Amino acid sequence: MVGAEARRVLASNRRRGVSEWDGMEFDFVCPSPTHYPFQWFWDSAFHAIALLEVDPELSKQELRSLMQGAQPDGYIAHMLLWEKSLNPHWLMPDYSIRLAHPFYTATIQPPVIARALERIFDATGDASFVREMFPPMARFFDWLARVRDQDHDDLVAIIQPDESGLDASPKYDAAMGIPSQPPAETLPALRRSMQRLFRGYAGLSREREPQIDLFLFEDVMVNAIYADGLRALARLARAVGLEGADDYERRYRRTLAALVAKCWDPERGAFWDLSGAREERIKVLTFTSLFPLILPDLDPGIARRLVNEHILNEKEFWLRYPIPSVAASEPSFDPGWLTQTTWRGGTWVSVNWYLYWGLRQHGFADVARELARRTVAMQAKSGMREFYDPLTADGQGATSFGWSTLVLDMIAAEGL
Ligand code: GLC
Repeated sequence: MVGAEARRVLASNRRRGVSEWDGMEFDFVCPSPTHYPFQWFWDSAFHAIALLEVDPELSKQELRSLMQGAQPDGYIAHMLLWEKSLNPHWLMPDYSIRLAHPFYTATIQPPVIARALERIFDATGDASFVREMFPPMARFFDWLARVRDQDHDDLVAIIQPDESGLDASPKYDAAMGIPSQPPAETLPALRRSMQRLFRGYAGLSREREPQIDLFLFEDVMVNAIYADGLRALARLARAVGLEGADDYERRYRRTLAALVAKCWDPERGAFWDLSGAREERIKVLTFTSLFPLILPDLDPGIARRLVNEHILNEKEFWLRYPIPSVAASEPSFDPGWLTQTTWRGGTWVSVNWYLYWGLRQHGFADVARELARRTVAMQAKSGMREFYDPLTADGQGATSFGWSTLVLDMIAAEGL
């Protein structure tokens, strides 16, 4: 039942046509027809992975459509507004987006694309597809290193909260001046603060934006995904005979080492984001504190602590429907969605999917299996929602939500 619903969403969210944007052809799965009608960067990578269970040709199509957004300098925006004129309400200030061009935004999202390409290659063995997609992807990773790692510590920075894709996570509250009470104030305060950032960035070049230290986060999840992407690029380059494999491999290992050296807290057994040019550790316990688990070369002792002390901790993350986006022990934890905004406690399927594979590769196959089982149970109750109450499995946020179909990959891996 869950599988059939996931397939329905992947089919009905598909958008195809010719855009007013230079007559380019688009063909992709939108995150939600009612809430998110455009092509989003990390959503699309997740869709490509889920589509492997439907038709690998559609997975390729999804990435081809996305890579049309790649700019000559390497930059790729977090949203491509293919059917812009059909969705005029999206261009109202309420949605807090900054445009770099009439058809794309001025912000980035986590580079899940390289993992998606790796999965497509593993499923199809199609080396020519890898050769086609590799150059724009590699240029984007190089852009991240050049523009977003200006302090050369091997960790890349985001310059506004939604660049991590974790828009309203409470880990950004202090930097954004958002009170955690009352819940009704969270979203209006976030929107006001976003406008403050937009005013600050107005007229600046992309190179200049990170230098003014208005909002600067070396985010653990973003950097774990960045490191994982460098690892995937190295492996793909080697597999299909492209240049640069050793370089990507070195950069992967350096970013992993930097995460451990700068973000790992051996006392708390968790990784913390670094805020501002002064790199202040932000000790708000969210799922991202566990995210380096997705890296196969993470130290096994650290991996064990993340799993035993946090993932399996019933006071923090091991709730009835894990893994909540915020630990239940945090004052800001909002399982019932009182704040009516994102990433403040709900369980997201993309998070479970990444951590599922992380658990497996670090030898916790039983925990992974249980996580997959509970994810399926949650969706059997509420369908393909954007996120879920981790205590009741009630659906929250958008309906017919694209990346919740990643459950197809866990169902296939577990034979559920
Ligand atoms: C929300 C999420 C973001 C996602 C977007 C489209 O803004 O926070 O991560 O990319 O929706 O689904």
